[in-house]
Amino acid sequence: MMPTSEQIWSQGEAQEALHSRATKIAAEQFGNAVFLRGVVEVSNFCRENCAYCGMRRDNRNLARFRADHDKLAELIIHHRPASITDINIQSGEDPVVVREVVLPLINTLRRETPLGISVCLGTLDDSLYTELKNAGAGIYIIKYEIADPALYSKMTAPGTYKERIEHIRRLSASGWKVSSGFISGLPGQTKEELLSNFALARTLPLDGCSVSPFIPGDETPLSSSPLASIDLTLNCMAALRLMKPDWVIPAVSALNLAEPGSGYRRGLRTGANLVTINMTPSDVRGDYLLYKRDRFIMTEERILNAIAAEGLKPSRQGLAAFYKTRAG
Ligand code: 5AD
Repeated sequence: MMPTSEQIWSQGEAQEALHSRATKIAAEQFGNAVFLRGVVEVSNFCRENCAYCGMRRDNRNLARFRADHDKLAELIIHHRPASITDINIQSGEDPVVVREVVLPLINTLRRETPLGISVCLGTLDDSLYTELKNAGAGIYIIKYEIADPALYSKMTAPGTYKERIEHIRRLSASGWKVSSGFISGLPGQTKEELLSNFALARTLPLDGCSVSPFIPGDETPLSSSPLASIDLTLNCMAALRLMKPDWVIPAVSALNLAEPGSGYRRGLRTGANLVTINMTPSDVRGDYLLYKRDRFIMTEERILNAIAAEGLKPSRQGLAAFYKTRAG
């Protein structure tokens, strides 16, 4: 079912009803279980120049880093949180790190751990996609960011709109599980544009989708724009769950920036079924400048507490394994 504007802009009792319906649908689909995935951010070099993102190439104030394979391998093999079943390897758009670090790391992790492997590396050549898949990654996270082509180019979002959508389709057609996403509350976003994100998501060959609240990022041209409304963002998450009961929908950590202290917990009450534990080494975390230098880090303890408090439990089955059984 396509969300209505009444749902997306609901308040009070109507909003509560929307969120509890979404929670109930997720519980029916996933039995109160949420997937736990670790994320490592392996490079903040980026050839893109998105107006909303602090890692944009025009940001000259950023100390750029590429992570070291051996350090990451040691961290993930020997020091990962016990509750994670999957790992997401994420990066600015940096083909160099894909070759030098990501591919070797996937090979190592496949050999040494049972973790399911997701990647979020931007648009790459087909040959690199193939190498990543052959190495053992199965899930590609590639957000379409913005459904309206005009706003997409105004925000200088990655590459071109057309190319981004083509890559999403191509990844799915070549056997990847694909998760996408969009930003709510972006400056210049009209009601129509926000709603068109659902229409687009529905037509794409996706297995999951996220909603990220716009955060006025440090060191970006939008740093003084207003923060997204948490209610609007949560309503979008709930509406997405109603539209696609079986999708994997994450509670993104930026929810806690949109509403410090409670945003994340509220996200778990809108039918989200995936949470992320940040494992990026702390010495480079601040330079992975998605939002603010001072990031709110979801540790395993915080996540497990939040999940338990919402009557949810960590999924015993990993995300990659789940997709496999569903496909079979
Ligand atoms: N606000 C919200 N989301 C953002 N992203 C980057 N910058 C921001 C911001 N200021 C999201 C984009 C990107 C992902 C890695 O982070 O959707 O795809």
